[in-house]
Amino acid sequence: MPMTSGEIRKKFLEFFKARGHAVVVSSSLIPDDPSVLLTTAGMQQFKPYYSNPSAADADFGSRNTASAQKCFRTSDIDEVGDESHLTFFEMLGNFSFGGYFKKEAIRYAHEFLTKEMGIKISYVTIFEGKESIGVPKDEESRSIWQSLGVVDIREESMDDVFWGPTGLGGPCGPTTEIYCKNAAGQDIEVWNLVFNEFFFPGPRDDLLRGNAKLAELSQKGIDTGMGLERLAMISQNKKNIFETDLFAPLIQTIVIPRADKNTERAKRIIADHIRASAFLISDGVRPSNKGVGYILRRLMRRVLVYGAGDTSLLHRIGEQYGDFYPELRNNKENITNVAVEEYTKFSRAMKRGLDELEKSDRIDAKKAFQLYESYGLPYEVIKDFRQSIDVTREQFDKEFIKHQEISRAGAEKKFGGHGLILDTGELKAGTEEEVKIVTRLHTATHLLQAALRKVLGEEVHQMGSDITSERTRFDFSFPRKVTPAELKEVEGIVNDVLKKDYTVDRQVMSYEEAAKLGALHFFKEKYPKEVSVYTVRNKATGEVFSRELCGGPHVTHTDEIGEFKILKEESSSAGVRRIRATVG
Ligand code: GLY
Repeated sequence: MPMTSGEIRKKFLEFFKARGHAVVVSSSLIPDDPSVLLTTAGMQQFKPYYSNPSAADADFGSRNTASAQKCFRTSDIDEVGDESHLTFFEMLGNFSFGGYFKKEAIRYAHEFLTKEMGIKISYVTIFEGKESIGVPKDEESRSIWQSLGVVDIREESMDDVFWGPTGLGGPCGPTTEIYCKNAAGQDIEVWNLVFNEFFFPGPRDDLLRGNAKLAELSQKGIDTGMGLERLAMISQNKKNIFETDLFAPLIQTIVIPRADKNTERAKRIIADHIRASAFLISDGVRPSNKGVGYILRRLMRRVLVYGAGDTSLLHRIGEQYGDFYPELRNNKENITNVAVEEYTKFSRAMKRGLDELEKSDRIDAKKAFQLYESYGLPYEVIKDFRQSIDVTREQFDKEFIKHQEISRAGAEKKFGGHGLILDTGELKAGTEEEVKIVTRLHTATHLLQAALRKVLGEEVHQMGSDITSERTRFDFSFPRKVTPAELKEVEGIVNDVLKKDYTVDRQVMSYEEAAKLGALHFFKEKYPKEVSVYTVRNKATGEVFSRELCGGPHVTHTDEIGEFKILKEESSSAGVRRIRATVG
């Protein structure tokens, strides 16, 4: 009998525990690092320890850790449905912050795969070196692999075998990857071992452009990542990840009512999207037109369009993963409620949208966006349901951004038949008078976020916001209740800014510039080249109080806002707090 995925996960963690690693639970899919939208790797929650290893002794009682981490990569969303791509996946990893380096890391990986799992390594890769960043060919890894009897060792470049940094900077270094054969005889990259030798204080793109100065970390570190789905495929001797026990039982229960769409591809998309949705919702994400919420909305709508929008599939995910990820079990009701609400909201518009899609001869960027705006059909749905369309995702995204700019100016538009004159997803107003109120509340919401970060720390970041003429509602990541004294302090800071009449400026700049200025942002992956940044500044001293990437609208002076009052602080979901507040 092959091992189940649950057994594999357990075996991995026990293997490293027996070798002096502290097993750490998965962090949320919404990372503490505000410069990254979602958690894409196991190392993210450990980033600070690479520069400060002694903190690991204090936090984990060890400089070596291991985890099974929930990850989400939006870059693969258009590929989902083939044999190997996923949005959500689980990453097994072992990490060391100055505890051990290449020799031990490669030996552990070799021992785990070949001895514990009984898997044959097909080949491995090593870094070929790059002079311009001062990193030589990784001969050390080559000789370690050779000493273990591995003969097929291939040299690869920066694109493939140099990891990091993530976000706006951090640890990075060369990697060695391990490939094994699946049942179809394909070589699959199973495990990536990263040797964090360097620290780079900027985004990866800067490093790739070569205008880089790599600083050596005072203590070298290890960061490895192995997709559980791929490991299960190899270990269970399957041809693709969907044949493993992680997916096969789920896929068997999926029936797509539209006969023409009842394909393997559609079932895989649904299986992936349902699983990802359940995990996102249980980490506090809610469908919206922005940021992570927009990603969730697209996943859920695609599922509904295929006719798989009953909640039984979500329940199955809760049952399948609830033992290892209790947040899924604990949020069972939240998950169902969010799904029912989103499905109900979308289902009527969807039917009309699909009819319209069928009737349209030619789908260009404008038409595709109109189908999204009027009926909520995401780009990928339009693509799934039409053989050929004349629009790429980039063109669609451009329309999307153009539209956000228009609604920022308060142009009249209707969305979903609400008769609203302003609806950016975040701000909603029915009359000109309401537009003025929500604009004031919007600026106040930026001030609230900045004040929360001053009082509670940088771990606070936006998880959602919803502004009506009655109030602003702001959700943010924070692990505990905010005390009344802290709330008073936050309120006091905001009111101080309002009294002092700070200025609010809008500037258009590149995403990189905005990131470098430290602008807070809620939505990363799909930013256009040019973004708008709102800065609230003390006129007298020039001090920046708040800076966020945002579509607006905002007031120009904070004294237009009136008095700020926090009405309520409560839990929104696991690790997420919610504040309601008013102005005036
Ligand atoms: N951080 C290593 C990986 O994701 O491959």
